[in-house]
Amino acid sequence: MVQLEQMISHLNIGAAGEVLRPHWEASLSSRPMPLPAFLTEKGLAHNAELCGLDADAISVLETIRQQIVQDEHLIQLAWHCHNLLYTYTDYEELQQWPCLSERFGDSHGAFYLIVATSMVPLVEEKHRELGVDPQITQATCKQVSAFAQNYKRMADSIGIPLRQLFWLRHYPAGRLFRIGRMEYMIKSFAGKIQVYRHKETAQTVALCDAGVDFNEHGFIDGQKAWCSSLQMESGKVIGQPISPKGFAERRSTELDLSQWKCVLQPGDSVLDMHIPAGGGMQPWKCRDSMAAAASFFTHMFPDVNLNAIVCNSWIFNSQLEEIPLSSDNLVQFQRELYLFPVSSQGNDGLWFIFFQDPFDPATAPQDTSLQRSVAAFLAQGNQWRSGGMFFLLDDLRHFGTQHYRSQYAAAGNDNHV
Ligand SMILES: CC(C)(COP(=O)(O)OP(=O)(O)OC[C@H]1O[C@@H](n2cnc3c(N)ncnc32)[C@H](O)[C@@H]1OP(=O)(O)O)[C@@H](O)C(=O)NCCC(=O)NCCS
Repeated sequence: MVQLEQMISHLNIGAAGEVLRPHWEASLSSRPMPLPAFLTEKGLAHNAELCGLDADAISVLETIRQQIVQDEHLIQLAWHCHNLLYTYTDYEELQQWPCLSERFGDSHGAFYLIVATSMVPLVEEKHRELGVDPQITQATCKQVSAFAQNYKRMADSIGIPLRQLFWLRHYPAGRLFRIGRMEYMIKSFAGKIQVYRHKETAQTVALCDAGVDFNEHGFIDGQKAWCSSLQMESGKVIGQPISPKGFAERRSTELDLSQWKCVLQPGDSVLDMHIPAGGGMQPWKCRDSMAAAASFFTHMFPDVNLNAIVCNSWIFNSQLEEIPLSSDNLVQFQRELYLFPVSSQGNDGLWFIFFQDPFDPATAPQDTSLQRSVAAFLAQGNQWRSGGMFFLLDDLRHFGTQHYRSQYAAAGNDNHV
């Protein structure tokens, strides 16, 4: 039995090892003998392949695995980390796990990547129980290789960013599924908007929720030029409309509730979309993913009333229209969606581009065209924003026609940025 103190001194990780104290005794007694399956050669090969890791990464993982299985301390540590990540899901110190470079040198990130891949059998079991197509299971597990890509950009070696580990807990829980290019989970809508639909023409208009402070351009960045209101009176809803281009308009509009119905509001169940790293955001891939997600979730969760796909991300920042990128995939995708303002702090999502926390313009990497373009935009003094989007499932057949923008303009709305 390896005590925590022995493990800390054996690996020479000092006080940093204290974050591993919770549940250590429980892990000691639950340790499978002689080895947890994810530390066998076969187990690792299966897990790494399903996670979408390439041959080079798998070979590094196998080398590290061989070192682990020769050392009782490392076997116990790997098993304990597996438990902290996937069994004790209220454990919150994943990001502080100690660096194991003393033991593994430049390949130290591989240790935690092996631990991350140990989710595969858990996801397989959960998906079997739910009746999920094995192709979706395989696609879902690929998030591990997307995270490994981020680590590669960050540290130029094999590993996984510790700050992203918590996210993996969604998969064994059977909450988050990758369908084509994107991932989705059912969530309660948290956007500060209400969406109305005309009962005959199916025109769609989003209104600001009440009490939101907007800047003079209709974005939410802590500056207050005006505050939104939303009133129901005499069978009408009166509020400020949001342009599908993503900003709130400082004017009031009235919708007659005998002709318009609310189709999306805070608290509604929605398909919350997430965008794994990997590029290749061609609009047709995004459309296919959204359509497949709609049928997957409707089939899997028939009791949940789902009207819309939503997302809040730097990827829906309408400033991307002003930034020259090597492909127009992101702006083309944005134009198909109904964008809306979300609260922005000035650094939202920059980690996903530069992998720095905090973002430092002086040292931010400039390796890709995306990094160079965004860095140049920020260097011009622009304040970075995040953005929200929704897309109503009923409108999937209109994808490719910039449906919301053309409807909004055709109705005579002011549609200028
Ligand atoms: C890459 C991405 C930003 C845009 O997709 P796209 O427009 O189809 O982009 P492409 O695949 O054509 O790649 C465009 C450039 O970005 C680079 N790139 C790809 N992923 C990158 C990343 N995560 N960080 C920095 N640069 C990246 C590519 O290398 C390429 O650069 P190059 O022109 O120098 O070769 C997006 O799809 C992505 O993968 N994002 C990462 C995940 C993310 O941010 N999710 C949202 C979290 S809130």
